[in-house]
Amino acid sequence: MKHIFNKGTNPAKPTLLLLHGTGGNELDLLPLTARIDDEASVLSVRGNVLENGMPRFFRRLAEGIFDEADLIFRTHELNQFLDEAAEEYHFDRNNIIAIGYSNGANIAASLLFHYENALKGAILHHPMVPRRGIQLPDLSGKSVFIAAGTNDPICSPLESSELQSLLEKANSEVELHWVDRGHQLTSEEVEAAAKWYHKNLK
Ligand code: MLT
Repeated sequence: MKHIFNKGTNPAKPTLLLLHGTGGNELDLLPLTARIDDEASVLSVRGNVLENGMPRFFRRLAEGIFDEADLIFRTHELNQFLDEAAEEYHFDRNNIIAIGYSNGANIAASLLFHYENALKGAILHHPMVPRRGIQLPDLSGKSVFIAAGTNDPICSPLESSELQSLLEKANSEVELHWVDRGHQLTSEEVEAAAKWYHKNLK
């Protein structure tokens, strides 16, 4: 997968996996890393799917309606890419924290829904429930931060709470942070994510 890897100064730190929103690319979320952890390695990936020229991490049939077969295939593909990248760049495969926005948050949530050890934790900005009706793996020891908008037209508050509850039922620790906004990524929620990271993961 097309990506950027920036080696951090402290190998004990997690590797931050950056996953952009629809129409974005691997450069978009780089400015966030200094606010989360400026000593961590960064792996920023571009989604392999194009929708009218806009990169995404998996196909959708319509706004908010996912192509489930493609979601499963792309989640597997990203998980394998993480295995390969950990070998190539010599970082700890068991210490990856995803930071995703919108479509990128959805594929990060899908990694958690499908694989027990894909991620150590995740910061999900405006995620949706990636799939329903499946048994999640045991996510004990995994920590998740969700930032959700009270007026998000793409992801309803109910869906954000549903995601929290599904992840908690799978034994992960979840903090749900509300912002009084829509679907946009706000600096307020990035600060909240940084605080959560320093409390839980550093
Ligand atoms: C998705 O398709 O992943 C969600 O609708 C969010 C987005 O618009 O990318």
